[in-house]
Amino acid sequence: MKNLLHKAASFLGAIGVADAAYTRVLDLRSIVDPEARDFRRAWSRIQRIEGLLVPGQEEWLFRAARRLPDGAAIVEIGSYKGRSTTALASACVGTTKHVYAVDTFNGNDSDFSQRDFLPAWKESIESNGIVAWTTAVPGISWEVGANWEKPIGMLFIDGSHQFEDVLKDFDAFFPHVVSGGIVAMHDVTEGWPGPLRAWREVVKPKLSNTGAYSSLAFGTKP
Ligand SMILES: C[S@@+](CC[C@H](N)C(=O)[O-])C[C@H]1O[C@@H](n2cnc3c(N)ncnc32)[C@H](O)[C@@H]1O
Repeated sequence: MKNLLHKAASFLGAIGVADAAYTRVLDLRSIVDPEARDFRRAWSRIQRIEGLLVPGQEEWLFRAARRLPDGAAIVEIGSYKGRSTTALASACVGTTKHVYAVDTFNGNDSDFSQRDFLPAWKESIESNGIVAWTTAVPGISWEVGANWEKPIGMLFIDGSHQFEDVLKDFDAFFPHVVSGGIVAMHDVTEGWPGPLRAWREVVKPKLSNTGAYSSLAFGTKP
């Protein structure tokens, strides 16, 4: 049932219906919730960017990034054209938090065939006024992770969806996540056996306070 709802939301999102419906609900929530009001301003920009999140997950990312302490580094594996990057970085504006967007910006040979979208990612970042809070890190994610040095306040994994690759991403970056830091994974759903298995068998057991927002699973590092 949950998977069916996820697929329906993805389809509706792809044709723009879910975003419009979400906007109406967000407008109502903005009347009573100041954080929803802040996100509403960012949402006007975010919803124009092509991406693969299910509506509502952008707000979850925004709110999670908002709650991080000043100075926190956010590592996003899998940025595509900048939809999730913009959700995260919009929450960093005016702070010293920063989003590192790790992506080949050229897809991969296993589950993401689109190519050459760094120009589109840059256009999203520049046109939305978040250049100062984002850095593109082009490369194979686990190779970037092998040379990573900064402590990470939030790790968002949405790169290759192959089981072994998700584990390589997790193994490369998780040691840098600070205690109390957030780990979130996208596409933890029956439709994506790689992330689902990685979450269940390896990632979730290493986290506390775990939960899920539709296909976005999350927890904190003890
Ligand atoms: C599902 S998309 C990310 C969607 C994005 N988070 C959004 O909000 O729209 C997956 C991304 O992971 C990237 N990717 C896949 N395998 C990768 C790898 N091994 N290293 C780095 N990036 C990779 C792809 O290029 C693609 O942009």
